[in-house]
Amino acid sequence: LRTAAVIPAAGRGVRLGPGAPKALRALNGTPMLIHAVRAMAASRAVSLVVVVAPADGAAEVRALLDEYEHAMPERTEVVVVPGGETRQQSVKLGLDALPEDVSVVLVHDAARPLVPVDTVDAVVEAVRDGAPAVVPALPLADTVKQVEPRTDGQPEPVVATPERALLRAVQTPQGFDRAILVRAHETVPASGEGATDCAGMVERLGEPVVVVPGHEEAFKVTRPLDLVLAEAVLARRRA
Ligand code: CTP
Ligand code: MG
Repeated sequence: LRTAAVIPAAGRGVRLGPGAPKALRALNGTPMLIHAVRAMAASRAVSLVVVVAPADGAAEVRALLDEYEHAMPERTEVVVVPGGETRQQSVKLGLDALPEDVSVVLVHDAARPLVPVDTVDAVVEAVRDGAPAVVPALPLADTVKQVEPRTDGQPEPVVATPERALLRAVQTPQGFDRAILVRAHETVPASGEGATDCAGMVERLGEPVVVVPGHEEAFKVTRPLDLVLAEAVLARRRA
């Protein structure tokens, strides 16, 4: 059972503000993508990492990974492919690059550079134990409201308040039986913005998805404040 990690890293990072593609932004001097690749390679289970680079930046990303090769475990092979317009398309392009002998796939956002190895291992273990789809997740701190979205600047009416205790915020790496994730990508149409979450596509196939405990440090770097938090977490690790 060979396990590979696909890292979608082709996004621009619009919500982070102007600058380089998000995955190439530095956290305490090291690009976010390098942190993310190392987080996957840190798991003994992962022997291959497929990085899905910005479509016009695959050569640059390859060069960057070569530059940091000394900082990677030797047992891990790293492949780079160009990405697509949406996360869903980028993941598909990553899956297309997997060799035949891979039976378990992790999909991990480059934008979650600090996920601890124990979380990665817990996801892999749950898939190897027979779950076709596994997501790490945490209970919510905030109460969540469903609203009727408005674009005219007027207050948005609340439609519903789902019971917070029943909700989970999902993270990555999400782990899959390879065949099921491939089938999901062949079956679920890539319309509009595409799926923000691979497990949601598997749910639409009617296949079971289970949750394992996520980790606070697996948060997604999305907005400028998240960069501050990520650098503080790294500084605390070194202290
Ligand atoms: N991603 C990707 N290809 C895309 C869009 C997103 O590979 N066309 C990746 C991002 O690089 C990121 C992950 O999907 O690692 C999660 O997406 P998100 O946090 O939304 O990143 P961006 O799309 O880059 O950010 P934004 O939505 O703010 O532009
Ligand atoms: Mg996005």
